[in-house]
Amino acid sequence: MSKNTIKEHWNLIALEYQKKRKLSFDDIEYALGYARESELNLLGDVEEKRIVELGCGAAENSITLAKKGGICTGVDMSLEQLKYAKNLIIENKVKIELIEGDIENLIMIDDDIFDIAISIFALDWMQDLNAAFKEAYRILKPNGIFVFSMQHPIYNLLGAEDLDLKELKISGSYFEKEVTFVESTGIDLRVHASKISDIINGLIRIGFNIENILEPKPLERDVFPREEWYRKEIMEMVPSTLICKVLKVPK
Ligand SMILES: C[S@@+](CC[C@H](N)C(=O)[O-])C[C@H]1O[C@@H](n2cnc3c(N)ncnc32)[C@H](O)[C@@H]1O
Repeated sequence: MSKNTIKEHWNLIALEYQKKRKLSFDDIEYALGYARESELNLLGDVEEKRIVELGCGAAENSITLAKKGGICTGVDMSLEQLKYAKNLIIENKVKIELIEGDIENLIMIDDDIFDIAISIFALDWMQDLNAAFKEAYRILKPNGIFVFSMQHPIYNLLGAEDLDLKELKISGSYFEKEVTFVESTGIDLRVHASKISDIINGLIRIGFNIENILEPKPLERDVFPREEWYRKEIMEMVPSTLICKVLKVPK
């Protein structure tokens, strides 16, 4: 499975994705149906902070942070996704640097320059998750914050799409290293699957201090579902998302 296939997938699916995604420009949603950044306060004060968003898509999160005074850079490998980002940045009258690049290899970015890195539902697409963690560590300043959310490895096993709670079954092995999706584009996608232990051990070995791990249960107040994959009755029993906040401990 090549990186180009993932890029091709995102270039093809960008329009469909953006039609559905519709994120706010005032707050950051780490997980569907869960408390946002304004309540979780994982990032702290972002004013004048240098922030990079890894796998930014249409850069809604960067726009939110730029509106709060952050100096933001968005990185994504899909030019089609970045086209949406460019338009939204203009519409929202903010300044954000956009970089077309692979977050597993950020050769164009110097060491130790960001105060904060965020990544929302992009690390699910890695060929080598540890390479992305290493790059996030490298480009963060000492004591920099990295907050990311990704699909929960257990939820991924349930094949929750189009199923009722009663029909749920485990659709594959938790220990399998690859998962395959055939998306609406018809592209057969194989991405690397991570166990919880792969994620946590990867972060520790790279030198991050784990500060907070959240496995959100949907809040009553949220309206569901927005996407078929996310089913409230299932998410009330199994977390759909893993949110991690880690700190770069200087070596
Ligand atoms: C599910 S979307 C999330 C986008 C955005 N963060 C959001 O919450 O809407 C995943 C994004 O990750 C990007 N992506 C996947 N693999 C990548 C890689 N290796 N380097 C950079 N971007 C990548 C895709 O192009 C896509 O825009």
